[in-house]
Amino acid sequence: VAALTPEERLWCLDGDAPCLAGLDFLAGGGYHRAPFHAARVERVGLPGFSFADGPRGVVIGNATAFPVPMGRGATWDPALEERVGDAIGRELRASGATLFGGVCINLLRHPGWGRAQETYGEDPHHVGEMGAALTRGVQRHAMACVKHFAANSMEDARFKVDVRVDDVALHEVYLPHFRRVVDEGVAAVMSAYNAVNGACCGENRALLTEVLRDEWGFEGFVISDWIFGLRDAARSLAAGLDVEMPYRMVRARDLPGALERGEVSWADVDRAVTRLVGTLLRFDPVLAGPPPDRAVIGSAGHRALAGVVAGRACVLLRNEPVAGEPVLPLDPGAGGGIAVVGALAATVNLGDGGSSDVWALDCVTLLDGIRSAAEDRAVAYLDGSDPAAAAAAAARADVAIVVAGTTYRDEGEYIGDPGVELGHLFPSADEPEVVARFEAEIASLPAVTVPPHVAERSEGGGFGLGGDRRCLRLHDPDVALIRAVAAANPRTVVVLQGGSAFVCSEWLDDVAAVVHAFHGGSEAGHGLADVLFGRITPSGRLPFSVPADEAHLPPFDPDADRVVYDRWHGWWRLQRDGRRPTFPFGFGLSYTTFALDGVEVAVTPSSLAVTATVRNTGDRDGADVVFVTATLPDPDAPARLIGFQRVEVPAGGSAPIAIDVPRSRLATRDPARRRFVPPRGTHTVTVGRHVGDPQATSVTVRL
Ligand code: BGC
Repeated sequence: VAALTPEERLWCLDGDAPCLAGLDFLAGGGYHRAPFHAARVERVGLPGFSFADGPRGVVIGNATAFPVPMGRGATWDPALEERVGDAIGRELRASGATLFGGVCINLLRHPGWGRAQETYGEDPHHVGEMGAALTRGVQRHAMACVKHFAANSMEDARFKVDVRVDDVALHEVYLPHFRRVVDEGVAAVMSAYNAVNGACCGENRALLTEVLRDEWGFEGFVISDWIFGLRDAARSLAAGLDVEMPYRMVRARDLPGALERGEVSWADVDRAVTRLVGTLLRFDPVLAGPPPDRAVIGSAGHRALAGVVAGRACVLLRNEPVAGEPVLPLDPGAGGGIAVVGALAATVNLGDGGSSDVWALDCVTLLDGIRSAAEDRAVAYLDGSDPAAAAAAAARADVAIVVAGTTYRDEGEYIGDPGVELGHLFPSADEPEVVARFEAEIASLPAVTVPPHVAERSEGGGFGLGGDRRCLRLHDPDVALIRAVAAANPRTVVVLQGGSAFVCSEWLDDVAAVVHAFHGGSEAGHGLADVLFGRITPSGRLPFSVPADEAHLPPFDPDADRVVYDRWHGWWRLQRDGRRPTFPFGFGLSYTTFALDGVEVAVTPSSLAVTATVRNTGDRDGADVVFVTATLPDPDAPARLIGFQRVEVPAGGSAPIAIDVPRSRLATRDPARRRFVPPRGTHTVTVGRHVGDPQATSVTVRL
């Protein structure tokens, strides 16, 4: 740091590209062509970092699209998520980037959040474990960046909303997963657009310094969210934000003057540069080696992994008998045709078209997957635009599969009217020498193929459509289609594609089976077909609750200027209010059956050691997920998920469960002293197969 000139040190505090020319480049597809570079100082050999987005894969080039994180959350399998991270890390490095911006772990406070698909679920413990696993995998090859710090779970109002949250709710509900990923050694943190308790997150000293540095001991660097992530150069630096991304924008224009006026000091500058350089040194052993060959990008091995994850992500929500037999799995060798209905069945529907958009090639639609698995069974496809024709086809078939849900048009990242004046943040002009260097760089970039599903998108298809979902129902025509098909064929299976919960009370009883398949990535069709045809036994479990009625959730106003986040959303809220969800948190059916017994909870000085046995009481190999929750001595506190474990169990066999729960997971926040206090008193530990499992076993422990 001492070897850098003052100008070079300032150079490290924002992205390397010019703002206006950079925005032009983005508008022309640049998002998918090159990483965003920052803090490169060639004179001293400082490599800086090169950021590529995620989280469903690498956004640059034509990378493998993995299922969206919400689907990966439904696997409840951190070891598998680590493998996804490993594959993404390799593709990222081969694409020329060094920092992966796709560890998105904001909590799903409400399933209407437009970017729900980018995170793992509604529970801090689960989200933290999955985010930590992705980080571990990625950081074998590159640096990872966790986002959006913090309390970012509304899209349309993200540039203006002020989230009011007290110390207890913040630390017990909205931050534990960030702390978990920080403890895992994540290289960087991205601040959020929204404000928390009155201060924009990019200028929020309470979050960026008092919590992140002073309380948690984070030693990596903090970057802003893009373009509008900070409003005041000096304030952001003093608050603890190290690098403004992605361009030379607010800081390049305002920081020199602010330093001269003494609004911020050179010590603040050096502290930020030191954090960055320190992190680059820490990762030098990882980053110094040559990147993997470009052949790993979209490689057969990575696609095979994407297919495994797509199958594991599918949650079987309903599977009723018709004529004495559950409808699923389908027998590929049986006679009788299959009617596949719904435009989404034949659509490459990878999810959002915003910053998480991965331009994967040759994606397998659900229809492709069903056709290739159906062997000799005839598959008829109708897009569903004529419900009567769809019903007629369903009536002729042995089984009907209706695919319905959401696309980038319905949910995802959204940039419209920010609802607050931000135009003054743009510079009036770029610096000519910075523009010249940038243009020379982009002139030599490799070409990227625009996949057909991207080329076909309707107007505004990137950041201009989507946003928050204002209603959790399926679209009216989809509901009508489901009803028409189900009336024609009792063996009707609904496949849901989308980023989070759909309220399905109005049609659920009409159909025999339901599978939530999320957005399954490059190999979505094969993953789903594996489940439908019983090549694998479904093991996905909901990472959120599906309420019977949207009114059972916290209020959600996508246009809010201000919102209060308390401790009550998701499964805790439903439990507190005595609301029976349609499908509880952690729910998912299987083609086999399981029993959980021998539950024991041993108290050790540092943890609770939970042990049990899962028996597969059916005749198919399968995997089960065991959940450990705790109610705390304080009757007014929400219960907590404190552990989970997925186990593979052969038919007729059994598998041991061993979950070590550190006592710190039961600690509670003392708002007066602004710290956690160790758990004390009587806790009820419940071990079951989902939240609210009537067969669960509860054990009382005194700590
Ligand atoms: C998003 C971030 C993303 C960044 C860079 C922003 O609009 O909020 O999640 O990482 O763009 O693509």
